[in-house]
Amino acid sequence: MTHDALPSTAPSPASLLDTFESLHGRPADGVWSAPGRVNLIGEHTDYVGGLVLPIALPQRTVAACARRGDDLVRVHSATLDQTAEIALGEVGPGSPGGWPSYAAGVLWALREAGHEVGGIDAVIDSSVPVGAGLSSSAALECAVGAAVSDLFDLALLADDTARRELIAACIRAENDVAGAATGGMDQSAALLCRPGHALYLDCRSGEVEHIPFDLEDHGLVLLVTDTRAAHTLADGQYEVRRRAAERAAERLGLATLRDVDPHALDEALETLAGDSPGDRPGNDELVRRARHVVTEIDRVRATVAALREDDFDTVGELFTTSHVSLRDDFEVSCAELDLAVETALGAGALGARMTGGGFGGSSIALVPAEAAAHTADLITAAYADRGWSAPHSFAVTAGGAARRDL
Ligand code: GLA
Repeated sequence: MTHDALPSTAPSPASLLDTFESLHGRPADGVWSAPGRVNLIGEHTDYVGGLVLPIALPQRTVAACARRGDDLVRVHSATLDQTAEIALGEVGPGSPGGWPSYAAGVLWALREAGHEVGGIDAVIDSSVPVGAGLSSSAALECAVGAAVSDLFDLALLADDTARRELIAACIRAENDVAGAATGGMDQSAALLCRPGHALYLDCRSGEVEHIPFDLEDHGLVLLVTDTRAAHTLADGQYEVRRRAAERAAERLGLATLRDVDPHALDEALETLAGDSPGDRPGNDELVRRARHVVTEIDRVRATVAALREDDFDTVGELFTTSHVSLRDDFEVSCAELDLAVETALGAGALGARMTGGGFGGSSIALVPAEAAAHTADLITAAYADRGWSAPHSFAVTAGGAARRDL
């Protein structure tokens, strides 16, 4: 039964200390960790300054770290059994490349922000599946960022204000060093989420509210399905969508699509469509992209209102509407995500949708607890019918943000 094959919630900090000592012949100064995330709703809205509603996963990236006396950043990934070494002075846009960019990039960004940081040795391990759209990259950035903050006395974990500074550094690592033009929701989730709560984040003002999200009390489960379909944010399509959202706002004379009043959406879409059909090529595409973004921001508000009322039927409907919008208007879904969503709905889920950037990655489904294992089995069977490789389904609860573990 696929549903039983849950990934462990997090690698043990104590065993990582041992690994560090056997690799480096000296003890680590401590162990830090940060979670992956699933976004409940509010997809492709963060980079327009919109609203999002992620939870932190129980799956975490754990980092055992120690300061070095020089400027070398040496990171060993226990998951990949690979070690990367780079002098801090050589870290920058495009360098070192690959997964080490996410770790070394944070030290670079903190230095750029005026903090005095030097080299570190780090050993990392993770239970956040890589390439599953569950923000393994943000978990890595934020685990290393938490460690560096403590190792160099930056106090960036002290409170939410300080954490926002660390979020900004982690975003720069991802945007500028790793070269993925992502919007910041993932790093905010990894550093601000609270156990048992979803993070209602206004990406424009930075304001947050912690919305109780404890499905167990309501006999429900949030089932994540990692489709295992290839998913890369850096491959261009994510950025193409982001630019389309910017172009749409520009044509409307607005700073971002966040400024479109949902009640005046039809008018805005008419403006985007142009007065004489056909005279502005590509307008239909902008209409659909803008419609997704504006309606999705409104769905986040509606989901929060429904959660406050414990109205999970409505939450489920909003999930499914969001999926349809992402599939048809924003065009970021794929056959594997659609099948996981349709199968979950057919099995009686209250709602289901793709989560994250799309083009592969994971879906989520809100299902009655007693139906979770069967739903996961049906999804696996549906994939097998098509000859696709097996997906991986597991139930998640809302975990906590980045912290020092030892
Ligand atoms: C990825 C990005 C986020 C966000 C989502 C889509 O996960 O990293 O910043 O844009 O896609 O909501």
